[in-house]
Amino acid sequence: MSQFAYDLVLRGGKLLGENQDAIDIGIRDKKIIAIASQLEGAGNIELAVSGKLISPPFVESHVHLDSALTAGEPRWNESGTLFEGIQIWGERKQGITLADVKQRAIETLKQQASYGVLFVRTHADVSEPNLIALQALLEVREKVKDWITVQVVAFPQDGIYSQPENEALLVKAVEMGADVVGGIPHYELTREDGVRSVQRIFELAQQYDRLIDIHCDEIDDDQSRFLEVVAACAIRTGMGSKVTASHTTAFASYNNAYALKLIGFLQRAKINLIANPLINITLQGRTDSYPKRRGVTRVKELWQAGLNVSFGHDCIQDPWYSLGTGNMLDVAHMGVHVCQMTGTSEIDACYDMVTRNGAKTLNLVDYGVEVGKTASLVVLDVRDTYGGKQRYNAIRLRSRPLYVISQGVRLEI
Ligand code: FE2
Repeated sequence: MSQFAYDLVLRGGKLLGENQDAIDIGIRDKKIIAIASQLEGAGNIELAVSGKLISPPFVESHVHLDSALTAGEPRWNESGTLFEGIQIWGERKQGITLADVKQRAIETLKQQASYGVLFVRTHADVSEPNLIALQALLEVREKVKDWITVQVVAFPQDGIYSQPENEALLVKAVEMGADVVGGIPHYELTREDGVRSVQRIFELAQQYDRLIDIHCDEIDDDQSRFLEVVAACAIRTGMGSKVTASHTTAFASYNNAYALKLIGFLQRAKINLIANPLINITLQGRTDSYPKRRGVTRVKELWQAGLNVSFGHDCIQDPWYSLGTGNMLDVAHMGVHVCQMTGTSEIDACYDMVTRNGAKTLNLVDYGVEVGKTASLVVLDVRDTYGGKQRYNAIRLRSRPLYVISQGVRLEI
């Protein structure tokens, strides 16, 4: 019997969203076993976090780890467009190896964890015949699972029907163990191929019991309308919360009558939506002169309609976006600006979009700072000096966490 009541105790923190007095959190055997003011009994490790914000970990719901940290290889994206990015990645991926992808993915995950990100959904390009990116990220998922949880999406970057072998590659990727089936209907050769690709993705997900996350309408074309197809398939299959539509940037260009109808369909479908504010504001609107569109989906209206919306980083130093740190507070900060969500409840919502909404998108069940849950949390150097506006200050400051606790263990960050 240990002389300590707890493996780890945090003393005097303020729980996110709570306005009560400071609390202590007791952790044993990787679990949160007590939350109370002035816990009795000592911890083997005691951390004084007086007045600091204790938050559930950040959730990265959309990133491409296979292309992370390749900016400038073999050349920089001078036009800054999505399509030049796809071309450059097409060149870069000719030379990828397992070791190359694994090394960059793990380096990026460490960077993300240092910012308190402990859950990550990554896309793996499965348009490449050897499926090296997928194999590498599946190996990484296992290698890092004791300190960060990774979900892998089988993502057919070049489309399922654009090359004869691509459909079989997607099926193989799912059979190899991808958690999520992906797609890119707006990049299929025809509208009909795009519709067929969405139907095929749903078939595969049902057959293999997988989640779905589709790059959907990531274009400024107001005629790109695959989100309605995703909603229809979700309604017919009842897959609802297992389904995610990422980007949906064309939504920003739809006429209001169509957008209103579509929001109603999405409420029936109950799917998740992901916006990537850093990348959407950078890549979209490139063919416009002025006025120039922002190209970010209708985040505020979707949130107001009660839909689950999360934010992703999407790219970290890759052919599409040479900047990026992995800090989800940078993402939320940009979301506040480009989505014009500056009201206090709107800023709070943007924080939720990089924490608990992301957890919902990933279908996580063991998430949150509660007794009985696995002890994964972050401590931010944020005080509620503005009457309980902790999330406001967290986004305003975008600071690196003081402590990151993953599965009961303090990470060295
Ligand atoms: Fe993406």
